[in-house]
Amino acid sequence: MKLGIDFGTTRTIVALVDRGNYPVVTFIDHRGDAVDHVPSVVARVGDELVFGFDALKAADEGSALVRSFKRQLASGSVVAGSVVDIDGVRVTLLDLVTGFLATLAEALRSSSNVSRILADGEVLQAVVAVPAHAHSAQRFLTLEGFRGAGFEVVGMLNEPSAAGFEFTHRQPRSVNRKRTRVVVYDLGGGTFDASLVRVDDLSHEVVSSIGINRLGGDDFDEALVGLALDAAGGAGDLPDRDLATLRDQCRAAKESLAPQTKRMALDVATTPVLVAVDDFYRATAPLVDASLAALEPLLGGLDADQLEAAEVAGIYLVGGASGLPLVARVLRERFGRRVHRSPHPAASTAIGLAIAADAASGFDLTDRLSRGFGVFRELDSGAGLSFDVLLDRDQRVSPDADVVVTRRYKAAHNVGVFRFVEHSALGVAGEPTGDVVPLGEVRVPFAHSLRDGRDLAGVEVHRTDDGPLMEERYTIDRHGIITVRITDLGDGWSQEDSLGR
Ligand SMILES: Nc1ncnc2c1ncn2[C@@H]1O[C@H](COP(=O)(O)OP(=O)(O)OP(=O)(O)O)[C@@H](O)[C@H]1O
Ligand SMILES: [Mg+2]
Repeated sequence: MKLGIDFGTTRTIVALVDRGNYPVVTFIDHRGDAVDHVPSVVARVGDELVFGFDALKAADEGSALVRSFKRQLASGSVVAGSVVDIDGVRVTLLDLVTGFLATLAEALRSSSNVSRILADGEVLQAVVAVPAHAHSAQRFLTLEGFRGAGFEVVGMLNEPSAAGFEFTHRQPRSVNRKRTRVVVYDLGGGTFDASLVRVDDLSHEVVSSIGINRLGGDDFDEALVGLALDAAGGAGDLPDRDLATLRDQCRAAKESLAPQTKRMALDVATTPVLVAVDDFYRATAPLVDASLAALEPLLGGLDADQLEAAEVAGIYLVGGASGLPLVARVLRERFGRRVHRSPHPAASTAIGLAIAADAASGFDLTDRLSRGFGVFRELDSGAGLSFDVLLDRDQRVSPDADVVVTRRYKAAHNVGVFRFVEHSALGVAGEPTGDVVPLGEVRVPFAHSLRDGRDLAGVEVHRTDDGPLMEERYTIDRHGIITVRITDLGDGWSQEDSLGR
């Protein structure tokens, strides 16, 4: 069975490849209702962690519900072995993600509308996604989590690129020779991503993409919680449980907002309060503005009229949080009629992933690295650092093939000390800025006499004359994970390091 799986911050959504159709899989929830997602949540029962609907059930029975754990993967300091605390249970991030995805696999096999057609032991082949600007460790964790949960991962795409597939599949005629570009605006539960995609028939090329790691529906919920607490005269010493209940109420109230809704009724513990929708929109307008500001590098200062000239067929709103009426309103004020809202904002990515999983669809993609990659090199005996950009954020990458970049130089030191980082932006002096994620330090023995396996951490770095001719070879694999091989071209000695594990 071939699937597209969108592991989201709030909800995980699965679409099926079914003879040219890509229906969203429905699951039976803990109350026996059919729903189109598995909630990305975890709770503790005794010493064990339970996930998805089991976690909702546990929460009904008094456990604390932990939401949005996917956000922790985006943190710059994570590796697969990073330990997180879930209501008192310490677990590695990899085990946490694997545990959740194993629950998803089990739900597909036993309590979904595809259970019946899944043969015993049939392999679940999946194309999965990560936020466009996900760093190497985040990609690696996601991939390993799916594999550990028993999926065969046949591809990994950037989330907005997948949503771009869904748009052109749904509206093949809106993209034509005069309007070849689509902007995908994906406001999810925890992240905002946007991509400018150039479309030529079934070929899709991501021209550029941007993202904000920590902007999503969760932030709108928090704003509403704040307004409700203000209306009740402050948080006082509101117990955590009541705060969690309030947060759930706020999410539900936000999700059911219609364009004509005037106010929202909420309960802060036992105190009923009313929050005016205008106040909520005023408090959250800066969040929408932040997403618009992030679009600037993709669209320049284009307004509605200029979109036509720039061959933009549309701005496609996907992601559950773009269901908020305020979002479409603000975008239409700026860009006019070219703003389209997906009929299934939360499922667009999963459907696009299923299209990618379907070889018969003929869709094809060239993507971008979407984050810069570079290295700090230690100069003379640690006296200074220089920064080299190795891969630009606009570096073309492919979900079907590895991309290799090499550079050669004559070594000028006895030991090479490389501190690799991924970064979202470059500063005026060419230094990495924005989200900067360290990928670890690699030491390389340039001097032949040091190649005996010794620990190079204790070796003093000094300049040498006439060092060997070296080659650095950077490979970005199909999943966007980077490895480096450093080779002495004189004698063939080499060393390989996977970064970000
Ligand atoms: N009708 C609606 N109006 C407003 N917000 C909504 C609506 N429906 C869902 N949401 C919000 O959308 C968010 C979830 O969106 P989505 O399912 O696209 O995110 P995700 O894929 O889980 O997260 P991410 O893509 O950030 O990892 C939640 O904050 C949810 O409250
Ligand atoms: Mg999403």
